[in-house]
Order: sequence, then structure tokens, then C-alpha cells
Amino acid sequence: MSIVICFNNKDPKPWQKALQAKLPDTTIDIYPNVTDAEAITFALCWKPEANILAQFPNVKVVQSVGASVEHIIQSQDLASDCVVTRIVDDRLSEDMFEFILTGVLSHIKRFAEYQTAQKEKQWQQKLYKTIKTTTISILGLGKIGTHVATKLVQVGFTVKAWSKSEKTLENVSCFHGNNCLTDVLQNTDILINILPLTSVTENILNLENLSRLNKNGYLINVGRGEHLVENDLLTLLNNQHLSGALLDVFRTEPLPENHPFWEHKNITITPHIAAITNIETASGIVVTNYKNLLNEKELINVVSIQKGY
Ligand code: GLV
Repeated sequence: MSIVICFNNKDPKPWQKALQAKLPDTTIDIYPNVTDAEAITFALCWKPEANILAQFPNVKVVQSVGASVEHIIQSQDLASDCVVTRIVDDRLSEDMFEFILTGVLSHIKRFAEYQTAQKEKQWQQKLYKTIKTTTISILGLGKIGTHVATKLVQVGFTVKAWSKSEKTLENVSCFHGNNCLTDVLQNTDILINILPLTSVTENILNLENLSRLNKNGYLINVGRGEHLVENDLLTLLNNQHLSGALLDVFRTEPLPENHPFWEHKNITITPHIAAITNIETASGIVVTNYKNLLNEKELINVVSIQKGY
């Protein structure tokens, strides 16, 4: 019984060190340096290359190192007895809330515009919005979306939210299902996407849906790059229906140097850092699942491969 770490675009060494400290007698290999492929029963993954897990015939648990699992489900042909698990960590939810709050406040107080004005030494006062008069809509009411919605209400925003299945949340206007997507999008100043990526949610941030936001609406995408139809966003920014966007995730990461988003004055780019899995807290979650596998106990944070989250 041993563990393999299969990461792309993420340093596996700190994870190996943290896990080894908690599991001193367990072999923890970093792909592709695997001593005994048949001994691997547990794979810790971040964006694994297509079908590499097929090299480990006895793998029983594939643990995502993040909150999302589409990078595993969409890239691997998993055996029917294989379980996929993810990280559910309060720290991740709180980090996401802090990132979003920063983005929302800097948007309503127009900080990006002042940064540009400062470069040109322009003293130009602009009208700003207030928390009380700003309506935020959130797409996705999983663990992280629920936390973000609750905290934004506490700050004083008017908050609406949309999920696939019915949810209720105190002081949040909740909508669910495709028929109600329009209801959540209209009368919205700031749209925040925290949905998981599935075949249903792919391209959900498109011309039709984003056009429903209020004039001068703002988009924050912390879901996945594939949720956004990039040219539709550019159209809506260029025709001034939307006033800007804060994007943390992209179809291609790192964002290619020649991508038009880099140069757009109304787009703020962050390099997929809205909520980075914390090794200290999350390695404990991984170890719990590894031990549960060893002891034939129920795994935690299991996802539905069918649903994709
Ligand atoms: C980050 O994008 C994650 O999936 O946790």
C-alpha cells in the first residue's frame, strides 16, 4: 500500500514532505518516479496527465489536492471501484471569501481606475457605490459558495444565489435549476462564479447570460476558465454593458502572453490564487482519507463521478 503524487503546474515536494511527516512508514512517490506501480492504492492529484492513473492497477482512491475534481474526472478512465475525493477545508472557503471581498470592494470603490489615473498623474474624482446599494449574485452554492454568500450578507450586501438543486440560506435569495437562471442574473451588479465545471456549466458565462446583468455589471470568475466564453466577455466590455471583470481562472493556464485579456484596461487578472490549498490543514484531510482506506473506513469528501462534483 503506497501513495503516488501526480501534479502538473504545482510543486509536489512540499506535499511529499508534509505527508511523509504524518505517515513516516508509508512509501510516497512522486510521479513518474514510482518504485512499485502495483503497490499504489492512493493517488494525490492535481491536473494529472491524461490517463496516467491506468499505470496503477490497484489504485482505489484518487484524491484531488483542491476543491475541484474535473481535472481528474475528465482526464482519467477510472475503474468502477475507484473513488474520487476532494479537499473540503474551512480555510479554503475563508480564503475565497477574502479574495472576493477584496475584488468586490476594490471594484465598487474603483481602485483599478485610480491606479491607471495615478500612472497618468490625473486627479479625477469618480462616483462610487456603497455596500448597501450593491447586489451580488453567486453562481454555485457548494461549501465555498455558501460560506461566501453568508459572509457577504454579514458585510451588508444584498445577495442572491443560484444552484443546481434547491438550497435555502438565511438572508440570501436562492434560485435553482435552469429555469431560474435568468432570475438570479437580472438586477445584479456583481456576478461571482464559483460553480464546479461540468458539461452543464461549461460556457455558462456567455453573451446571453452576462447581458442580463445590470448595465455596468461586473464579473468575478473564480470557478474555471471553461465557464467563460472569452469573446463574449470582450464584446460586453467593449460595448460597455459590463464595466469590468476580475478573472482568477483561465482556459489555458498560465494565461498565454499574447492573450487579449492581459492588455484590457477593464480586466484584472490574478494567477489562480483566489484560494490556494493550505498544505498544513489539507494534508491532514489527505492522511485521514489514506488511513480510512487502510482501515476500510468510510472516506471523507467523496464526490459523485456522475455529477462531476
Ligand atoms: C482550485 O482551483 C481548486 O480546485 O481547489
